[in-house]
Amino acid sequence: MTKTLSHSSEETQAIAAELARHLVGGEFIALIGDLGAGKTTFTQGLAAAIGSTARVKSPTYTVMNEYVVSSHPTIRRIVHCDFYRFTKAEELGALELDEYRRLDTVIVAEWPDALPTVAWEPAYTVRIEHKDDQSRIITIEEGV
Ligand SMILES: Nc1ncnc2c1ncn2[C@@H]1O[C@H](COP(=O)(O)OP(=O)(O)O)[C@@H](O)[C@H]1O
Ligand SMILES: [Mg+2]
Repeated sequence: MTKTLSHSSEETQAIAAELARHLVGGEFIALIGDLGAGKTTFTQGLAAAIGSTARVKSPTYTVMNEYVVSSHPTIRRIVHCDFYRFTKAEELGALELDEYRRLDTVIVAEWPDALPTVAWEPAYTVRIEHKDDQSRIITIEEGV
């Protein structure tokens, strides 16, 4: 487990980039934290470090965004989900999210509570807590 204090969005993205170095593809990453904690900001840093040139935008209204990468040795795709507005299990079924679980794909999910815990065991769980306006406590654990 690592626990780091971030003082800015850039620092949060740098912490995400450090996590990205450990990824090879096939991982599911759970992002936990209040609204505005920095989950999407963290994902931006992660995606950029993996090699996405597209700017990661919050998928709050689209539920899921997909980014293709070509410069990484083993990762070809990043899927960024936000289940904040998710209530129903059948909505989840309609997404056919299981199709995205491939060895060349990293899946990152904000508000992953909607996911069935058995099938969606995270490789890493990232917790972001507000400390003050600009500071966040970021805890990264394997599994959980
Ligand atoms: N240390 C920090 N880490 C991440 N975001 C920060 C930090 N300090 C300020 N912010 C701001 O907090 C907001 C986080 O928003 P966002 O990443 O969309 O949060 P979430 O996805 O968790 O709702 C952004 O406006 C960002 O600029
Ligand atoms: Mg977000």
